[in-house]
Amino acid sequence: MPARPAAPAGPPVPDDVLAGLSAERRELFDLRVQRWWPDLRDGLADVYPAEVVDGLAQRLLASAAAAYAEREEDLHRLDQERTLRPDWFQEPTMLGYAAYTERFAGTLAGVHDRLGHLADLGVTYLHLMPVLQPRSGDSDGGYAVADYRAVRSDLGTVEDLRDLARALRGRGVSLVLDLVLNHVAREHAWAQAARRGDEHHRRYFRIHPDRSVPDAYERTLPEVFPDFAPGNFTWDDELDGWVWTTFNAFQWDVDWSNPDVLVEYADIVLFLANLGVDVLRLDAIAFLWKRLGTTCQNEPEVHSLTQVLRALTRIACPAVLLKAEAIVAPADLVHYLGRGRHHGRVSDLAYHNTLMVQVWSMLAARDVRLATHALRALPAVPTSTAWITYVRCHDDIGWAISDADAEAVGLSGFWHRSFLSDWYSGEFPGSSARGLVFQENPATRDRRISGTAADLTGLTAAREAGDDAGVDAAVARVLMAHAVVLAWGGIPVLWMGDELGQSGDPGWAGEEGHEADNRWVHRPWLDDAELAAAADPATVPGRVLAGLRHLVRVRAGLPHLHASVAAEVLEVSDPGVLAVLRRHPVGDLLCLYNVTGEWRAWPGHRVRELGLAEAEDALTGAGVPWGGDGDVWLPPAGALWLRVPDRPASSR
Ligand code: GLC
Repeated sequence: MPARPAAPAGPPVPDDVLAGLSAERRELFDLRVQRWWPDLRDGLADVYPAEVVDGLAQRLLASAAAAYAEREEDLHRLDQERTLRPDWFQEPTMLGYAAYTERFAGTLAGVHDRLGHLADLGVTYLHLMPVLQPRSGDSDGGYAVADYRAVRSDLGTVEDLRDLARALRGRGVSLVLDLVLNHVAREHAWAQAARRGDEHHRRYFRIHPDRSVPDAYERTLPEVFPDFAPGNFTWDDELDGWVWTTFNAFQWDVDWSNPDVLVEYADIVLFLANLGVDVLRLDAIAFLWKRLGTTCQNEPEVHSLTQVLRALTRIACPAVLLKAEAIVAPADLVHYLGRGRHHGRVSDLAYHNTLMVQVWSMLAARDVRLATHALRALPAVPTSTAWITYVRCHDDIGWAISDADAEAVGLSGFWHRSFLSDWYSGEFPGSSARGLVFQENPATRDRRISGTAADLTGLTAAREAGDDAGVDAAVARVLMAHAVVLAWGGIPVLWMGDELGQSGDPGWAGEEGHEADNRWVHRPWLDDAELAAAADPATVPGRVLAGLRHLVRVRAGLPHLHASVAAEVLEVSDPGVLAVLRRHPVGDLLCLYNVTGEWRAWPGHRVRELGLAEAEDALTGAGVPWGGDGDVWLPPAGALWLRVPDRPASSR
């Protein structure tokens, strides 16, 4: 047998910091460093000048060692558990829920009283929207952080956060927090120091004395908030310069080409990890690296930097996962889970923005051809990762549909995107959607959409009109949309209020600082009356909740839905039916969804070819719903999850 190659010479482990630890614990740290050192070093070498890489790696390692030494016993144990079960987050039992703390439970302490509701739904992953201290006044929903080491004072304290993390851990629920790492509030200490003229901190930002550099960049930069924050630079008198502000004028982009910025964020990551945070949502990660002549999104350095942060957490706190929030075009999206040399080395989780957009596109067009093409065209992602799948979240929906995908199925990308905005704002004839247009861009004529799932599926309108048939149809659409994302593989995340079919908040503009940002329409307070009404399965909230609960429970028992198993979208037979196959060693699972308002058939011969003639619908326990014509028939907005059970349904 050839001799095993010697392990690469590792870096010097910072012994002084680890001196007080047991020999086993020191050895474990050492083993982790050996394992992750190449990822850390390669990532740094991709981004920073060669002469700073070693010093930088040492600084990061020292931070990792200090955090490791301070980490609570309970968290060390969790690190070990998850190292032994690295697919813990890929199981079909994982279910997410995302909410603003105050709108969900008042305060962090109040969340304890809502744990029953979460358990009832089957939630194992709770994303609390930004809870760290934001600037006062408008803070973009907390995404303008003034202090990463303090909790929003109206929500509680750092100790409350630690307590909540502990309580959640005790119940097997992971805590997910945002790590806003593209920008800070202009009130953050770094920004304040920069404004005072401190040179060290001025270098944390991208500041230009005149318009020449900003103008050069602007030639290729899109605008994120063209409506209320046009442009990407803001003049600041105290800085005496233009500072880069991709989002709002009060959100200053930090300069990741400065290694000190990386070291600062590494420390913040480790601080949050040691509070007991399980998943860090890397907010707006696509924007981290700026390159002249590009859109300054999705640059390769973004992935190298993620690789560095991941190596760091794998060394100090491997229980922690990274989740990329990159709301980008399909071709760019897959890179956030790792492609090419970043394969298996970047985020563990990423939002499946393409799937979300295609769900809404299918429902409006009542046609699956575009979705089928676009989803089939997505390259494979590493089997060790998982998508975050979702129907709605706290943000607007931007129609991330490429012109090429649209053209491939005979559509114009521009007109289809325009149709979707018309449909969901209720302007298109026949649409009962109640969405609001967000950030209309006169230059590109792009329009995004705000609204809850109930608003967009027509449930809100049907309830208001007392239209029972309309309510039935809309509830079916809400559930079918969720069935698609629940059976995709990955962690499905429910958006607070959607589990009750809650409508948008009619008073969204009344709150100070929210007037111009209609995303607040789909961020209503959890309606206690609706929650109480949901106890009665005959009410609308009761029907939505019971329907979702049922989907969640069935899903949890289907090993086919493990995230490592790819969701294969099958060729279209009927343009109204989406077909998704999950091939798993326990057998195949075929999911069929009728996205139209009529009965639709899927060819019986295809079901037979897949060996599923004797299958059972996991959702109903009944056999394949054959029509008299030998095809499989689905009711309007119907869903089927067909698989061969242990015993064929016919032999029962
Ligand atoms: C992310 C958040 C969004 C916020 C933006 C800037 O996209 O989801 O709500 O406005 O980042 O932080």
